[in-house]
Amino acid sequence: MSDSWDDYAVEWDSNEAVVSYADRAFDSLNSAVDYEKPTVFDFGCGTGLLTEKLSPVANRIVALDASEKMIAELHKKKLPNVSTLSLTLSTETIKENPALQLKFDLVVASSVCAFLPDYDATLTLIKSLMAEKGTFVQWDWLASTEGDEFGLTASRVKSALMNAGFKDISIIHPFSMESPEGCRDVLMAVATR
Ligand SMILES: C[S@@+](CC[C@H](N)C(=O)[O-])C[C@H]1O[C@@H](n2cnc3c(N)ncnc32)[C@H](O)[C@@H]1O
Repeated sequence: MSDSWDDYAVEWDSNEAVVSYADRAFDSLNSAVDYEKPTVFDFGCGTGLLTEKLSPVANRIVALDASEKMIAELHKKKLPNVSTLSLTLSTETIKENPALQLKFDLVVASSVCAFLPDYDATLTLIKSLMAEKGTFVQWDWLASTEGDEFGLTASRVKSALMNAGFKDISIIHPFSMESPEGCRDVLMAVATR
């Protein structure tokens, strides 16, 4: 497996598993969260599989990914209310980018957080971007133990969200899917600012 997400960008949308993951993430979002024309931040958007689904129901979406090639694929979709950013979130990049001055009603991170070098610090940055009553939703493969290199445990996610100051935290397992390590549950965490 390549270390660079860029290497997966062109073929990403022809991978049935990732398309299905995004479909199920969107369905579980609609079951768990009430929203009305939200301003959305899609963190780690990839080629925008979830962005595409949110676009018709959102006011505006800022879709960010560290991979330039993933963002290039999303650009090709020409979604009318979507602005894209190819960068890594930091205090500096937040200050420099007008699109990150919006206050987001809904932040989604689908299959991203388990890959972050600093999940805890990123949650604090994400929280700073959210509207007062904003909702954060993440999906990741459910890890069985803390030592598991693949995914995140529910307790890890809960404590990270609590430490970052999120409230009303709920963690469910809305669907299971084939993963590189066999059939695994997906963890969905919902929290408010
Ligand atoms: C498994 S893919 C998921 C992509 C998309 N959310 C989806 O569901 O199709 C993980 C994505 O997270 C992005 N990513 C990883 N670390 C990141 C970071 N620190 N900041 C922004 N994006 C990051 C990768 O570039 C990649 O596109």
